[in-house]
Amino acid sequence: MKNTMRFPENFLWGGATAANQCEGAYDVDGRGLANVDLVPVGKDRFPIITGEKKHFAFDDAHFYPAKGAIDMYNTYKEDIALFGEMGFKTYRLSIAWTRIFPKGDELEPNEEGLLFYENVFKECHKYGIEPLVTITHFDCPMHLITEYGGWRNRKLVDFYERLVTVIFTRYKGLVKYWLTFNEINMILHAPFMGAGIYFEEGENKLQTKFTAIHHELVASSLATKIAHEIDPENKVGCMLAAGLSYPYNCAPGDVFKAQKDNRQNYAFIDVQSRGAYPAYLLKELEREGVVLPILEGDAELLAEHTVDFISFSYYSSRVSTENEELLAQTAGNIFASVKNPFLEASEWGWQIDPLGLRITMNELYDRYQKPLFIVENGLGAVDIPDAQGAINDDYRIDYLRAHVQAMNDAINLDGVELLGYTTWGCIDLVSAGTGEMKKRYGFIYVDRDNDGNGTLKRTKKKSFGWYKKVIASAGTDLD
Ligand code: BG6
Repeated sequence: MKNTMRFPENFLWGGATAANQCEGAYDVDGRGLANVDLVPVGKDRFPIITGEKKHFAFDDAHFYPAKGAIDMYNTYKEDIALFGEMGFKTYRLSIAWTRIFPKGDELEPNEEGLLFYENVFKECHKYGIEPLVTITHFDCPMHLITEYGGWRNRKLVDFYERLVTVIFTRYKGLVKYWLTFNEINMILHAPFMGAGIYFEEGENKLQTKFTAIHHELVASSLATKIAHEIDPENKVGCMLAAGLSYPYNCAPGDVFKAQKDNRQNYAFIDVQSRGAYPAYLLKELEREGVVLPILEGDAELLAEHTVDFISFSYYSSRVSTENEELLAQTAGNIFASVKNPFLEASEWGWQIDPLGLRITMNELYDRYQKPLFIVENGLGAVDIPDAQGAINDDYRIDYLRAHVQAMNDAINLDGVELLGYTTWGCIDLVSAGTGEMKKRYGFIYVDRDNDGNGTLKRTKKKSFGWYKKVIASAGTDLD
């Protein structure tokens, strides 16, 4: 498939990972323990990530995939070389908070952790790769959870402020693009991952979630302010788990339900991009008896330090209805949606909708009128090497081709400003939702299974060459 419309000259093509899903080395060079280390594979994973089951220590009954992950802490040079070979212009990675501040509340950072990321960023620049750094990707030091209760405690804002001040200062000139919180709206659905929240018996969950949400939003504005003060070249983005919710049918009740579901996600970005809580959310919280813990100065901070760009993940669209019978759920990215009869789904039940990406891009651009950045997109699939060890992942190429085409249309036909595109899990890594290794997204295969067996050997998949060609041709050669 040849495209006559090119992507912009300085378009940031690349791939994305998160520290806890790829680094491993969870206890070396002074790193402290994080919530994400303690999330096992298996049936207990979901109750733990949603804050319903307390699990604050390792045990022998579970396997913890983040402990070793794909060992990128030790292999980052070889892995970044492969990204360079594909022609990446950017690499999105996250910083493990516990490498910089092992407990989270120390006054002085851990030099070994700081040095590790400095080396990673320098390695990226060797290949002309611009790092795009997520400051927190679902991780929170365990000490901040056991001693302070996670993000329900305002003190976390101070600790986060210390973290960002240290990293913006240290990495000035090495990193320009920052994301404050990965998929910030995920607090509503996976509060232990999103905010280090485990719910105590009898606790008002909605109140706790919105307390934590306010604290993260304040922390995000504060980070934006500090980033700009330390280096005016810094560009800071918010990060939304996106994917528009369609009404199941044109009954106004379904349309209204879809609007409500979409607003549940937009509310976060409304604050981060427009600088204030939207009226519809304030009214809803009032009805629910939820009080936002707004302190003096918060409103001004939120208003004055809004983000420079809107980043988001997109895997799938969603469907909303008020019809109870239809609410027989299908799987989705942690938060589920009604099945869309017009769409195919992945092996994990995620519905595949490339046009939905174009629609989502237009919605976000209309609403915020700021540049967008797609920082996650991809197909989680089982890859089976053939007898020669080759991985012919045509299904992944098909998925990505259709989504790249949708982006191209949004840019060139609709006029959406898009800074870049980083596919999720450009190298196979641990799944955040399930903890599995067999749910693979990468252009690079990693020999490791769900139980942690394997040589960790890296092998280029067929999609590796395909993506390289897409980048080299500025998105015109999608064959
Ligand atoms: C996003 C997360 O929710 O989706 C990633 O930011 C995650 O951390 C990705 O890995 C894909 O989800 P999963 O569950 O397939 O790993």
